[in-house]
Amino acid sequence: MGFKACLFDLDGVLVDTAKYHFLAWKRLANTLDFDFSEEMNEQLKGVSRVESLRKILDWAGLQIPNDKQNELATLKNSWYVEMISGMSSNEVLPGAINLLEELRKNNIKIGLGSASKNAKLILDQTGITSYFDALVDGNIVRNSKPDPEVFLKGAELLNVTPSNCLVFEDASAGIDAAISAGMKVVGIGSTKDLGNAHLLVQNLTQINLNAIQQLF
Ligand code: BG6
Ligand code: MG
Repeated sequence: MGFKACLFDLDGVLVDTAKYHFLAWKRLANTLDFDFSEEMNEQLKGVSRVESLRKILDWAGLQIPNDKQNELATLKNSWYVEMISGMSSNEVLPGAINLLEELRKNNIKIGLGSASKNAKLILDQTGITSYFDALVDGNIVRNSKPDPEVFLKGAELLNVTPSNCLVFEDASAGIDAAISAGMKVVGIGSTKDLGNAHLLVQNLTQINLNAIQQLF
């Protein structure tokens, strides 16, 4: 009854990749004579690669044909992949390993629900792939968060009903996706846009199985 599975967003929940996305987008923006700020980067949390590029072009007031947009997204990704290829297990965020261990020991299923097409590489680099019973990433889903597809697919692969799942998310689009999927959701971070979450914590050190069970 109740709680059976957890679905984790990746970027900003298990690992801090926002800094690498920032550097790569900034480098791309600079080639377009546009300065990309940390505040803008914040607004790209949970947003897919193509959607992120569209927003940046919008902020820059630039209109660029689709084939050129694909080239730009590919270029940004090549710089991003170069950076994440150097990631290691010490970049797993505080509290993540303890929580994953506790969930495993208690036979709670664990899935990934990420918008990233680089999720597998990041999990492998940081050594946490083996914790997951199912991986749903940007290569699999058609509709980005706030569409619930990524989490519904995760529940399906884990063979659990959505109402028995808990999602961990740091982006407001992801929180809305989890709620639309009919799941409980813990928001990670401090921003006010995470207000729809059932529980808000600063990071994964502040949550454990006992606290999770109280949400169900
Ligand atoms: C999300 C990040 O997890 O993945 C976004 O929060 C990113 O910032 C998106 O744009 C897509 O990532 P990738 O690795 O496919 O470019
Ligand atoms: Mg995220």
